[in-house]
Amino acid sequence: MESAIPPHLQVKRTRHRRVPDDYQPPYPAFVARHRPAVERVVMAYFGLQYRGDPPAACAAALDWIAKTFAAAGGPKHWDRARYVDEAGYTNLLFVAYWDDQKIFDTWFPPAREGWTGAKSNFAGLGTFIEVLSPSVNDYETLFSSLGRPEGIAVLADSLSGDVMEHAYWGGMRDRIPKSQINDMAPDGAPSILRDGDRVRVKPHDNICLIRSGQDWSDTEASERKMYLDDVEPVLRAGMDFLRDEGRSVNCFANRYMMVLDRTGRPTEKSYGMSWWKSLAALERWSESHPTHVRIFGAAMKYLSSLGPAAKLRLYHEVTVARTADQLFEYRNCHDRTGMLNAVTA
Ligand code: HEM
Repeated sequence: MESAIPPHLQVKRTRHRRVPDDYQPPYPAFVARHRPAVERVVMAYFGLQYRGDPPAACAAALDWIAKTFAAAGGPKHWDRARYVDEAGYTNLLFVAYWDDQKIFDTWFPPAREGWTGAKSNFAGLGTFIEVLSPSVNDYETLFSSLGRPEGIAVLADSLSGDVMEHAYWGGMRDRIPKSQINDMAPDGAPSILRDGDRVRVKPHDNICLIRSGQDWSDTEASERKMYLDDVEPVLRAGMDFLRDEGRSVNCFANRYMMVLDRTGRPTEKSYGMSWWKSLAALERWSESHPTHVRIFGAAMKYLSSLGPAAKLRLYHEVTVARTADQLFEYRNCHDRTGMLNAVTA
């Protein structure tokens, strides 16, 4: 059993873990391990949106993404996913990851200009960029099984052995290295800056992002039926709640994404991604909303009894970001897109 916090990020605690030192979780789980030289990572969500049939510019935009991401300094890993939002717009998200901020900083300015800048030329499309560039102290990951990293973990050198800080409410906080010495409370309120067609959201300190993924592609027979008939509808209800009523629990925006393959076809993977006022708000929802409490309890039971034989794969990555490590920019998007919601609500 190892700590989710790697030795080089462990410091003298001023805040305690929720569990005693001899706590034993009932099933295994794993976290991403970067080599110690990695100090900061970048998670960049490039989005586009349209209503109804895809406009002609959509193909050009997809081409642009493929070319720009493949250029020198582009992401080491990216994936794509789709969802229809609360205003009825189809949104495509291209999520790109770096583990070297200097490389990102060189690559980003022309990419930003091309996607949301004055020269961006995708008629009929809204485009947006949401970026966090957290220090390795400011985020955590969790995987229910080995062998198929997703998201930022694809860039990690390995997944850990079985970690201690999981399978209890508060495990997420305890896995974030900064929690050893800081409560990561939010400070300030988001505001809007308009620059022609481009709208920027100037957010507050310690905003929280979760990407929580599900992969049922390996499941068979009864496990597949259990996921699709019993778990997924409850998950969807939880995601709909956050999308439509999230503001009541300090969730600014929620997207229940279907992952697409390289040719744009749906896969048997999904993820929920949401922007929260704070880590505490995300904790409150996950431990109290009937939908998540139900799937959490069912998954705990199921993972405890099946152990490594479980074929359903679950993972998440959660970041608490400083103001300086955030960028939100929207061009020709409707006013409930992403973090615009935080300001227009
Ligand atoms: C099929 C879908 C899901 C299942 C079965 C599920 C189940 C679970 C389980 C078993 C844990 C505990 C993991 C551990 O510590 O070992 C967990 C934690 C958590 N889940 Fe989910 N979950 C799902 C989707 C989601 C989604 C979409 C979100 C939010 C967007 C979410 C938010 C959280 C949070 C915030 C925690 C951490 C709670 C804490 O440690 O305090 N989950 N979930």
